Amino acid sequence: MKQLLVSGGRRLHGEVHIQGAKNSVLPILAATVLHDGISVLEGCPHLSDVETAVQILHELGAKTSWQGHTLTVDAAGLSRCAIPEALMRQMRSSVIFLGALLARFGEAELFCPGGCELGPRPIDLHLRALGELGTEISVEGGAIRARAKKLRGAELTLDIPSVGATENAILAATAAEGVTVIRNAAREPEIVDLQRFLRSLGVRIRGGGSSSVTIEGLAALHEGHHRVMPDRIVAATYLAAGAACGGEIRLVGAEEKRLLTVLAPLRAAGCGIECDKEGITLRREAPLLAVPPIRTAVYPGFPTDAQAVMMAALLKSRGTTVFVENIFENRYRHVDELTRMGADIRVEGRVAVVYGVEKLCGADLRCTDLRGGAALAVAALSAEGESALHEIHHIERGYEDLAGDLNALGAAVRRVI
Ligand code: EPZ
Repeated sequence: MKQLLVSGGRRLHGEVHIQGAKNSVLPILAATVLHDGISVLEGCPHLSDVETAVQILHELGAKTSWQGHTLTVDAAGLSRCAIPEALMRQMRSSVIFLGALLARFGEAELFCPGGCELGPRPIDLHLRALGELGTEISVEGGAIRARAKKLRGAELTLDIPSVGATENAILAATAAEGVTVIRNAAREPEIVDLQRFLRSLGVRIRGGGSSSVTIEGLAALHEGHHRVMPDRIVAATYLAAGAACGGEIRLVGAEEKRLLTVLAPLRAAGCGIECDKEGITLRREAPLLAVPPIRTAVYPGFPTDAQAVMMAALLKSRGTTVFVENIFENRYRHVDELTRMGADIRVEGRVAVVYGVEKLCGADLRCTDLRGGAALAVAALSAEGESALHEIHHIERGYEDLAGDLNALGAAVRRVI
């Protein structure tokens, strides 16, 4: 089985370009369904989740082609509005195609994505928002059948600023008669990137990135062109690796304004961080210090997706750091694997307390989920000796070339089949 073999204990020195953002390109790929023509996406990362989204597009009747990191989608030949259950189970976020298919065809058949490693992943907010836009939805035996004779603009308020529900409502609203206002919308940067792509198609949308997004439906659409934003969580992962190992690394494409709540604890831990237009440089010489409590929150709070890698960075810091995971119910699955390396972490519900230790030892490790797997790699880099990471398919959902990127920063990571 595929593994990552990590030789730990090296300081890092090097530069890496940050890949395109998984959580931006996935809703944008769903949005290509809106236009019965061409969409050109530059800076598209080669990820297994992107491959799954491409398979869904092919299943619907679209054509795609790659040139390097540019993915061209031709959705002119779209002829189906149903997504097979196997593909839905392969990638939870496939539910994002629901709003786009309703906009294109007025109907959609797919399956409840089901829970995942992070806990139950309900879609009640998605379904309620689409219902308010005029969709009739039935869910039987996990199968979702949605019909909208006519989507109607509405003023809707999300109970919580769900990223996926915001995206699904936006995509459906592009084909609704009249104006839609989505209140308590998610403010994540990936929503702003989706808005940029939609505008390139001709969609009249504003407010992306704020908690109130307005869409004027039924605009005439045309060929879309977009460059996918850099992945802020991949950048956070490499910043955590630099903090954990010490040395000096440069991340080209990392954006300070989208990482402020990640940079703050790293600076508090003793990292020197300089930001400029092209990217971010992190230096760490002295031993890391524990930091004030890290509470995950919706954007612009500390991102839940960076919790595991930040924890891995602080395992040998001097003192005690408290983490509070407020977004997902079960996002500490990496803790057991980290303690096998000698980490000292106590978990009580949503709270994890990290007591800094002198050293970590390389071990045989099993990735439990995407960001938990990345955290194991960060910890292995700062451990003494060799580590072997198994179940790395989790990591490959969101990191185009974790081994290659870390080696560009001076690590010694081998991907073996
Ligand atoms: C997106 O997931 C991201 N995935 C996640 O990244 C990220 O962790 C999450 O947003 C939060 O930032 C993609 O963009 C593909 P939510 P999403 O809807 O849209 C509850 C990664 O590692 N909720 O904002 O599913 C839900 O249970 C992944 O890259 C409902 O209760 O997140 C969760 O507790 C992991 N009902 C909270 O809201 C709903 O209808 C946040 O979920 C929808 C969500």
